[in-house]
Amino acid sequence: MAKMWEGVTNGITDSLADDFNSSIRFDSRMYKQDISGSMAHAEMLGNKGIIPKDEADKIIAGLGEILADIESGKLKIDMSCEDIHMFVEAELTNRLGNIGKKLHTARSRNDQVALDLRLILRDDIDEITALVKNLIGAICDKAEENKAQIMPGYTHLQRAQPVTFGHQIMAYAMMLLRDLDRLNDTRKRLNFSPIGSCALAGTTYDTDRFFEAEKLGFTAPCLNSIDGVSDRDFCVELIYDISMIMMHLSRFSEEIILWSSWEFKFIKLSDSYTTGSSIMPQKKNPDMAELVRGKTGRVYGDLMGILTTLKGIPLAYNKDMQEDKEGVFDAVDTVKMCLKVFCGMISTLETIPENMKKAAQKGFINATDLADYLVKKGEPFRSAYKISGKIVADCIENGFVLEDYPIEKYRSLSDLFDEDVYTAVNLDECLNKRISFGGTCVKSVEAQIKAVRESL
Ligand code: ARG
Repeated sequence: MAKMWEGVTNGITDSLADDFNSSIRFDSRMYKQDISGSMAHAEMLGNKGIIPKDEADKIIAGLGEILADIESGKLKIDMSCEDIHMFVEAELTNRLGNIGKKLHTARSRNDQVALDLRLILRDDIDEITALVKNLIGAICDKAEENKAQIMPGYTHLQRAQPVTFGHQIMAYAMMLLRDLDRLNDTRKRLNFSPIGSCALAGTTYDTDRFFEAEKLGFTAPCLNSIDGVSDRDFCVELIYDISMIMMHLSRFSEEIILWSSWEFKFIKLSDSYTTGSSIMPQKKNPDMAELVRGKTGRVYGDLMGILTTLKGIPLAYNKDMQEDKEGVFDAVDTVKMCLKVFCGMISTLETIPENMKKAAQKGFINATDLADYLVKKGEPFRSAYKISGKIVADCIENGFVLEDYPIEKYRSLSDLFDEDVYTAVNLDECLNKRISFGGTCVKSVEAQIKAVRESL
């Protein structure tokens, strides 16, 4: 097929080169953005008298019909076209003849692709934002149900101090709140309009880039036309934001996988979010969480990919930049899917309070409280720590826990011990004494849930 650029070259390329060069396989998803960008452009051309107004109107109507026909399935996107921009323009010219050929006045595919990509990613950011909010909502609900549910908190994956399940999972809500902030920030910087930058240097026509920017919901046109066509920072930033979301989901996944194992059994994942084994009848596998953890690696790959692609590209447009789309679309699609599945998995999981409590009782996670007890009775912290350590060692050797260690034995190590030591090491007491701001006591977790819900 002869190409639109036939002129200096004969426009006939090798079919292998054609396939290699073409991007329609992955940029056809931008058809809506391409059409709305073209509509705004045609309207501006008509307003400024660069093309006759009635012709601009015909172009806008024609583009509207193309959009409707694509959406209804009447018009199939022709995959033999080089990219979506070529397809829409060729289809318009098919329908309108010479008038269709006027649409490309005072623009270039370079500003067109930069525009389409910003438009589609802006919508994606809004969708991802909504999905993150849903997930935060689901976490808050689960935390509310489990705000008094005691479990061991870990450091080094060793039982450390008592926390509540609600407190533990609200930590993930905090991460996701920061993710929302990052998305919003990226959106702000993305939201400048490249259209009218043309190939790179601007144009000799008296265009109105402010009109186009406003029409398409941008803050303003990009200030420098060379930057307008060359900037892909918004892709990098978005993939970075998505990488952070994935990293958070991946850490959460890791805990879910551990908690649902036979060794922990703190939670039971719903059958609808687990799979069985083809050979071992007893298996109930946390595949969703494992896949989220696995896909995180691929998204990081997308981030390294775009950074590396961009690092050596001189100004302005170079065809390398066509490589921006597959990675960013992959990251966007992946995070959307992960967020949806994750939300379902969290809302349907059930906690197993007895097991969490049992684990909390066995790990001497009240040893810090024992030391604090002595400190409050006048013992300096370092020596209180030592005495408590000796008691724990003796408990382990003789099969006691702090809750049933005999009072005479306590007293043999320090005469500051009294019957009230049993209240001090009672797990519920230990929990609810942690009243510091952001801490694990029920009231504090309630306050965290409330603050997060309000900020949504
Ligand atoms: N398909 C191209 C891309 O995705 C559109 C821009 C083409 N511009 C050019 N000068 N060849 O980057």
